[in-house]
Amino acid sequence: MRKPLTVGSLIAGPTVPSAPTPQLVHTPPPARPRQEARRSAAPSSSTNPFVHVTQRGQRFSVRMAPGQSLLSAALSQGQALSYKCLQGHCGKCCVQVTTGSSSLTKPNAREQEKLGRKLAQGYRLACQSSFSSTLQRQ
Ligand code: FES
Repeated sequence: MRKPLTVGSLIAGPTVPSAPTPQLVHTPPPARPRQEARRSAAPSSSTNPFVHVTQRGQRFSVRMAPGQSLLSAALSQGQALSYKCLQGHCGKCCVQVTTGSSSLTKPNAREQEKLGRKLAQGYRLACQSSFSSTLQRQ
């Protein structure tokens, strides 16, 4: 049965002690495990999937492509390296490898003949140097 409303029923009466209100406690947001996992799994220099080269003052990043030549990998990835003969004669594809050289095969006879001492400075013929068929750690 409903109680009829009167003027007196709308006026607050004596307050009844209620249960204590819970205090707000600042808690930090939960850790984001996915981000942390990504950060810890961030590629270090030893797992960097790119070889960085310069050619005539221009920098290029070429994603490793085991078994492919540095030039063909670069061209297939939209990196516009200059080249001409594709046979190791003209030297137009010459690049200086700044990082990732250990993922390339050893210089072949044409590179040794064409580049000589420049090999020690990291120069390679992009048409003659290839990515190792198995990626190695640097
Ligand atoms: S394109 Fe001529 S040496 Fe590589």
